[in-house]
Amino acid sequence: MSTHIGAEPGQIAPTVLLPGDPLRARWIARTFLDDAECHSEVRGMLGYTGTWRGQPVSVQGSGMGQPSMSIYVNELLDDYDVQTVVRVGSCGALTERVAIRDLVIASGACTDSSMNRLRFGGLDYAPVADFGLLRAAYDAAAAREDVTAHVGLILSGDTFYNPRPELTAPLVEHGVLAVEMEASALYTLAAAKGRRALAICTVSDHVVTGEETTSQEREETFGAMVEVALEAALG
Ligand code: HPA
Repeated sequence: MSTHIGAEPGQIAPTVLLPGDPLRARWIARTFLDDAECHSEVRGMLGYTGTWRGQPVSVQGSGMGQPSMSIYVNELLDDYDVQTVVRVGSCGALTERVAIRDLVIASGACTDSSMNRLRFGGLDYAPVADFGLLRAAYDAAAAREDVTAHVGLILSGDTFYNPRPELTAPLVEHGVLAVEMEASALYTLAAAKGRRALAICTVSDHVVTGEETTSQEREETFGAMVEVALEAALG
C-alpha cells in the first residue's frame, strides 16, 4: 500500500474517478460499477475498484482542497501508475451565464493557491485539461437532454469561506465561470507526470443569485455527471 491508500499494487485501475467526498465514492461504486470492491478505508477516504461496461475503473475520495487532493493524486500516479484521473465534484457558479445544476467542464483552472507558485518559483503556470478527455466529456454531455454543459475556466480557491470575495471579480471579468477547490493542482500534477486529467463539476450553489440545490437535485445531477465522466474516460 502507499502512505494514504490501502491498496496493493494492481488493485487500482488505470482510470480513476475522483470525487471529493468519500461517501460519494461509495455511492458511485455501488450505483455505477459492477463487482465493486473497497480497497481503501485509510482515514475514511474510501477507494473502490470495479468495472464499467466490462472495463476496470476505480473511484477514490480526495477530500476537499488542493493539499488533500494532491496527496491522493500523487500516490495514484506514482505508486499505482494511474493514467487517467477525472474529478467529479461540485462548484459554485460565479456568473449568471451558468445556472444551478449545470455542468462546468474545466478547460483550465486559475488558482489563488501557492501550490503552483511554489512549484514554478513564482511564475504563473496555466494548468489545462487533457484535450481528448475534454472533448469526449463535452460530446457525452451534449448528447444528453438532461444536462447543460459549459466548457471554460474555473477558479480553484483555497478558501470555501472566501475572506476577500472582491478579488474574484477580475477573474470573472476574464471569463472564469465557477469556483471549486481542486482542479488547478490536479491538472498540474497530471502534466508533471504525463498523465490525463479532467475536472467536471455540477453547479451546487450560485454565488451571484444565492440559489442552492436540494440534496435530491444534487444526487440527480451528480449521477448525470458521473455517467458523462465514465463515457469520456472509457466510452
Ligand atoms: N466555493 C468553493 N468550492 C465550492 C463551492 C463554492 O462556492 N461550491 C461547491 N464547491
